Amino acid sequence: MKLIVTDRKGAVHELKGRDDWSAMEVIRDANLPMAAECGGACACATCHVYVAEAWQDRLPQAQQQEVDMLDFGVAVQDNSRLACQIRLTDDLDGLELTLAPESL
Ligand code: FES
Repeated sequence: MKLIVTDRKGAVHELKGRDDWSAMEVIRDANLPMAAECGGACACATCHVYVAEAWQDRLPQAQQQEVDMLDFGVAVQDNSRLACQIRLTDDLDGLELTLAPESL
């Protein structure tokens, strides 16, 4: 499966997704700028991404811990998610994400 990621400069990257990896792991493995300071423990909000409109209803609902952690994100929008909480599966082939502004 592939993951389409737009970076903060507007460049689009097509990344090879790995089954059962998180979107955060794939993005970091591609050396795109994502702090992901807590390593995927849903405890930092530095893996904040925006989900393309066409994909918003196709992702599993955010768990309460993710919703709570997004309160600490920068420039949070309705389509905000934490990339470490998006588990990749074949159903998400072509998922489009945009890196949110970096937290301070
Ligand atoms: S990596 Fe820390 S919340 Fe996602």
